[in-house]
Amino acid sequence: MAESMAGLKRSHRCAELSAADIGGTATVMGWVQKSRNKGGIIFVDVRDRSGIVQVIFEETDCGAESFKKAERLRSEFVVAVTGRVEARSGAVNENLKTGAIEVRAASLRILSESETPPFPIEEHSKTKEELRLKYRFLDLRRPDLQRNLMTRSRVAILTRAFLAEEGFLEIETPTLIKSTPEGARDYLVPSRVHPGSFYALPQSPQLLKQLLMCSGYDRYFQIARCYRDEDLRADRQPEFTQIDMELSFVDVEDVLDVNERLLQKLFKEICGYDLKLPIQRMTWREAMDRFGSDKPDLRFGMELRNVSGVVKGCEFAVFKGALENGGSVRGINAKGQGGMPRKKIDHLVDYAKDFGAKGLAWLSVQADGSYKSSFAKFMAEEELSALVSAMDGQPGDLLLFAADKDKVVFDVLGNLRLELARQLDLLKKDDYRFLWVTEFPLLEYSEEDGRYVAMHHPFTMPMEEDLPLLDTDPGAVRAKAYDIVLNGTEMGGGSVRIHQADIQSRMFEVLGFTKEAAAEQFGFLLEAFKYGVPPHAGLAYGLDRMVMLMVGADSIRDVIAFPKVKDASCLMMEAPAPVEEKQLAELGIEVSEEEEGK
Ligand code: AMO
Ligand code: AMP
Repeated sequence: MAESMAGLKRSHRCAELSAADIGGTATVMGWVQKSRNKGGIIFVDVRDRSGIVQVIFEETDCGAESFKKAERLRSEFVVAVTGRVEARSGAVNENLKTGAIEVRAASLRILSESETPPFPIEEHSKTKEELRLKYRFLDLRRPDLQRNLMTRSRVAILTRAFLAEEGFLEIETPTLIKSTPEGARDYLVPSRVHPGSFYALPQSPQLLKQLLMCSGYDRYFQIARCYRDEDLRADRQPEFTQIDMELSFVDVEDVLDVNERLLQKLFKEICGYDLKLPIQRMTWREAMDRFGSDKPDLRFGMELRNVSGVVKGCEFAVFKGALENGGSVRGINAKGQGGMPRKKIDHLVDYAKDFGAKGLAWLSVQADGSYKSSFAKFMAEEELSALVSAMDGQPGDLLLFAADKDKVVFDVLGNLRLELARQLDLLKKDDYRFLWVTEFPLLEYSEEDGRYVAMHHPFTMPMEEDLPLLDTDPGAVRAKAYDIVLNGTEMGGGSVRIHQADIQSRMFEVLGFTKEAAAEQFGFLLEAFKYGVPPHAGLAYGLDRMVMLMVGADSIRDVIAFPKVKDASCLMMEAPAPVEEKQLAELGIEVSEEEEGK
């Protein structure tokens, strides 16, 4: 039977006890990690979120009643134990924070019993994630997840304290809003009062924080929940949390400065890492050319080289064709990988194809200086040696080339570079390489829509010197936008916003919005901009991603209490789920029969 707390008070968390407490009494409460009955003596490990402490039951100390109860203890029973803290009678357990002590129980209460859990509650669980997510409330008892969530809480608290000190106000913005124009699909919420009309859940507080700037709250932040109906990956969830901020009367440097100091503080406090300021910067162009990515991982080299100039006269159809189509030929040098077996090279070729490559041309430089290659036969000897020397190829190196439109070449080689680094174990989790990527293109041409679309959002300020290009060559306009990248992950991003009505209208024109369409979608913002708008800029971090990088987790699911899986469902609550006919009727919604069975 479950006993009550009457008259009991916890004195310590389990792992707060130490040698300094020896001789005193303590009352600890927690879950039974394991219990070993050695005849007249029972050893029980009691666990709470601080860790584990060993409790010893002997009838002479705790009396017959408590000893009888102790005999019944099973994993995950919830107990309260009062006793004397003593030096360990047995060998000291070096692996345990409380390994030098134990609690000699004087009394025991069983606060609650437990069925046998569907998987053991232990660090580094080998249980399949699906089962763990179904029983997430048990999974969350595991020490690694508890540490992650405790770290997350500290990050949020430190962020609040830092930003408050810097003069930021924490302001909440609504989550039932009108659809905002940011890349992903919106989650919609039907209105009962306005049948046929829908709220959207915010993809970010972007427009609202800009309005707050118009209202004079010149430094705002919020730890904001955001919703995006997009394909999920290890670093993407349909709902996630941003550390979101906006500042008035600032330019790029001001935003980067306060954020560099925030990051320095957080990584010092949480990871003990000394982030040297200023953080390295790289333009988007340079990042693409050198790493084939707008979020380069700087923990290793293997940079891309453009060899278009070197191969331009050759007869190899693959290279020649790519150049004739306005593309490029670029390569990476996997140093010392010349001996890679053919099978592994073929695997790399397949990997490249996953990213849109039609193939991958490779050449390994042998110890005697000769080549093994998939394309050497198509090229003259002197062309090959020029290519190898352009790639700085030494005996023992493996050179990999992609030839295609730039976009494909970058994607293929950027990802191949990462794949090789994973295979060669070059990615150390406690090596933090921060980078600002700046000067992103303002616009991207969408083949699908047959027009330019905003790379970030339509309120991003173009670089002043590029303004004339808006009319002549929109694709070449650079934006006052920046991303903060850590170890190949985009941890955050932001921009200076347009605050001039004329630039905003030109931007809408380029994006193909009519005046009416712009007014329809963002009327409230355009209206606000008529009444005195300060220059402003901001940035948002993905809090989940930041914590994931801090704790070295492989997925943001490991730093979110109740995450969703790849198909955006919650295995524990079994959401989403059908609703009662009555609820639908109230909302004026009918589900078509085709959808119902899905
Ligand atoms: P952006 O869309 O770049 O910018 O988002 C900012 C940061 O949020 C994180 N993030 C995500 N994290 C988990 N799951 C997702 N699905 C997801 N999508 C984004 C990323 C990203 O860098 N309003 C602008 C910010 C601004 O301009 O101030 C915005 O939302 O870490
Ligand atoms: P093929 O002439 O098709 O046998 O190709 C010769 C070599 O070029 C093979 O190793 C192909 O994988 C490679 N290859 C094919 N298309 C490309 C491409 N777009 N970029 C780089 N290499 C390619």
